[in-house]
Amino acid sequence: MRGQDHPGLNGFPRAAYGALLGGLLVFACGAIYAQTAPQIVPRLTGASSPMGDVPAPPLARPVTDDRRLMRNYPEQPPIIPHSIENYQLTLKTNRCLDCHRRQFTEGSGAPMISVTHFMDRNGQVLADVTPRRYFCTECHVQQTDVQPLVSNTFKDMLLVEPKRNERRR
Ligand code: HEC
Ligand code: HEC
Repeated sequence: MRGQDHPGLNGFPRAAYGALLGGLLVFACGAIYAQTAPQIVPRLTGASSPMGDVPAPPLARPVTDDRRLMRNYPEQPPIIPHSIENYQLTLKTNRCLDCHRRQFTEGSGAPMISVTHFMDRNGQVLADVTPRRYFCTECHVQQTDVQPLVSNTFKDMLLVEPKRNERRR
């Protein structure tokens, strides 16, 4: 009979048991993994009681020695070696460009934004900075004199020891 092909009352419990067992297995494996997995990333959430009153740690001091550092690879956005405190970077004002824009570099002595900063997403070269590169601190950051949160084994492809480490010692 055709009706026998449908999963009837007999078929249903077997499928349900299967699903239940599978679920239990996944749960058990997950629990075991959670117990034994190495903690790769340090806690960034701060105090264990998130709603408690915790004094904010002081901000680390940025490195502002005006030394342009070697890049770790050619495409690295160079880090900012000077203070950027209170520099406005909004839709209307871009303090960075007051010095780094082509027209102003003679007066400021700042390196000009590179040619890539004039290209739009189609590779068209514009007369001024492309919107894609307008918010400088998306890519360029300052450094602070602190221990890294996550250790890093990066090695320069030419195996040159970065000069940066010498300075901090
Ligand atoms: C008052 C002028 C001035 C302003 C404003 C300014 N800079 Fe600079 N910048 C310089 C000068 C000069 C240098 C060269 C190194 C030095 O003297 O600090 C430099 C260096 C840099 C470098 C390093 C370039 C390299 O090749 O190593 C980066 C990146 C940079 N600035 C980004 C920024 C960003 C981002 C802002 C805005 C948040 C900014 N600058 C605002 C003057 C300025
Ligand atoms: C999307 C990421 C990005 C943004 C946004 C960006 N830059 Fe860059 N910048 C880079 C990269 C990557 C390099 C190095 C390779 C290159 O020149 O494209 C660089 C290089 C530079 C250099 C070194 C130029 C040279 O010839 O040595 C300066 C100065 C600079 N940027 C300033 C700025 C300023 C000022 C802004 C904001 C107006 C800005 N950048 C926005 C990624 C960015």
